[in-house]
Amino acid sequence: MMTTNDPATRFERPVILEGNRIRFLKDQSTVAVNQLQTRDAFSDKWNATQGLDQEEKLFETQRAWFLRLYGFETEENLRNYLKAAKTIVDTGCGLGYKAAWLAELAPHACVIGIDLSDSVHLAASRYTDAPNLFFLQADIADTGLRSGSCDVVVCDQVIMHTEDPERTFVHLAGITAPEGEFLCYFYRKKALPRELIDDHFRSRTHEVDAETMWAFSAQLTELGKRLSELNVSFDSPDIPMLGIQGGTYDIQRFIYWNFLKCFWRPDWGFELSKITNFDWYAPSNASRFSREEVFGIVSRTKMEANFFHEEEACYSGRFRHAISK
Ligand SMILES: C[S@@+](CC[C@H](N)C(=O)[O-])C[C@H]1O[C@@H](n2cnc3c(N)ncnc32)[C@H](O)[C@@H]1O
Repeated sequence: MMTTNDPATRFERPVILEGNRIRFLKDQSTVAVNQLQTRDAFSDKWNATQGLDQEEKLFETQRAWFLRLYGFETEENLRNYLKAAKTIVDTGCGLGYKAAWLAELAPHACVIGIDLSDSVHLAASRYTDAPNLFFLQADIADTGLRSGSCDVVVCDQVIMHTEDPERTFVHLAGITAPEGEFLCYFYRKKALPRELIDDHFRSRTHEVDAETMWAFSAQLTELGKRLSELNVSFDSPDIPMLGIQGGTYDIQRFIYWNFLKCFWRPDWGFELSKITNFDWYAPSNASRFSREEVFGIVSRTKMEANFFHEEEACYSGRFRHAISK
């Protein structure tokens, strides 16, 4: 059982600790071209997000969503859940605000935030006060962490951006302790027109420069804003051939779910809404999953769901090693 807060003891590969930053002594990992493009897109995204006026609004919304996605509902429940954890890893931690939150809720645990993008440097510079919080820049499909060394592994809104999500899932399940849990989010497949447009961008994004992608994201935001300001709701019929579910929709949400991600939230403002659109269209890697695909990955990895949640946007769950019967 891990009892120290020295993160190096959790790694099978030699690492160096510089303040709250962990570095591999020798980094021999090779990263695929699309993953490198995805890394650069997220470095750009986080640079644009850091320091925005609405930044705390984003963090607040995300923390509240996390509690729902993984079945905690309240921060107190999450705090209790983390009580027994010695090692918590937040894989794909971005700016590190969730890792910092987990470190605050579980001061007794060693919390490690990992991200491939340069956001880890922003995170490490920001959260210098937490003695139990560390950051590492690495591919989460190959974290260097020892098998079974983590009590809680979080992969929130990340696995779909990895080169091979199933391989990533297998690795992260592997570092999850025998009695531990792996909290994972899967972006849900949407209606056919939205999927076709998404597929187009997956194959084209890497040919488009960042400036063009930002301009495109601003156009999508403007579209979302104008549609939303129409304040129009209507009843759509069921169109099963297109995967469109009938019901009452606001026109912006109808386009958003079924055709094109044109995110707009007035309380987040234009910049943060634009960043949210960029976040989806700029990375080359952005897979989507059906419920069957999620459970296929989970069962092939010999995991099972302790808790499972689904909503229009996603599937998420707390997975543990299956107990062989
Ligand atoms: C949509 S953001 C989510 C960030 C954070 N988990 C949150 O919920 O705010 C996805 C993050 O995953 C990171 N990422 C994508 N592929 C990765 C990989 N293979 N290894 C490590 N990080 C990765 C990106 O750099 C980005 O910061």
